[in-house]
Amino acid sequence: MRKKIVAGNWKMNKTYSESVPLLYEIKDLLFKSKKGEAVLKVIIPPSLYIHDFYETTKGLKNVFVGAQNCSTEESGAYTGEISAGMIKSVGGNYIIIGHSERRSYFNETHEELKKKTDITLKHGLQPIFCVGETKEKREANEHFKVVEAQINDSIFHLIPDEFKKVVIAYEPVWAIGTGLTATSAQAQEMHRFIRSLIENKYGRVLAQEMSILYGGSCNEKNAAELFACPDVDGGLIGGASLKAKEFVEIIHSFPQ
Ligand code: 13P
Repeated sequence: MRKKIVAGNWKMNKTYSESVPLLYEIKDLLFKSKKGEAVLKVIIPPSLYIHDFYETTKGLKNVFVGAQNCSTEESGAYTGEISAGMIKSVGGNYIIIGHSERRSYFNETHEELKKKTDITLKHGLQPIFCVGETKEKREANEHFKVVEAQINDSIFHLIPDEFKKVVIAYEPVWAIGTGLTATSAQAQEMHRFIRSLIENKYGRVLAQEMSILYGGSCNEKNAAELFACPDVDGGLIGGASLKAKEFVEIIHSFPQ
């Protein structure tokens, strides 16, 4: 069955001493309610905190920890890099790959994203693979073309057994951190398109099992409408994941 997922991408926010009370606050709120129990909750702090977050959330049902990026390489002389194997060794389960901030500020190429996806899967972790168009591309009506190329170039080489472990996140660049959310109709249209690409490549059964998340100014006010769309299986949350109450409200926003 298709999984419902809410992942909080903390990006480069919170010092360690700020992060601990926030994590405990989220944990307490999750404990208080049974409502979001079936939702997979992924907390994705700066990599430095993964081990600690893993230890703190260990044993909590459906709570996982992840990383925001990994190296294309296994190990070696790559100063400053962190490998998928290292992330796994401290308790990480998911790795975000191809976030638009990494594509644009760090010039990550399709080829690198392909390698990162492969290495993540090789270590038994799940990639959260991000796709999404810029404002210019949407205005030029090229958004479907952009997303199709991103998927084609970096994850469609996978065999079905690998592909089904990928979580796709549609994050229109114009909606990230801007307060401009895609309408539920825009999100549904793109999610359905992504699912149809998967169906054409891997067949209907696998396409129906894939979780496709929406990201981009998703918050506790708009999550319910977005999550009610038939092809939206949850969210990749930035800003609102840094506020415990809002984040947990988002987790509680799936249709009951
Ligand atoms: P915001 O929710 O802050 O727009 O960020 C979305 C995002 O980039 C999550 O990866």
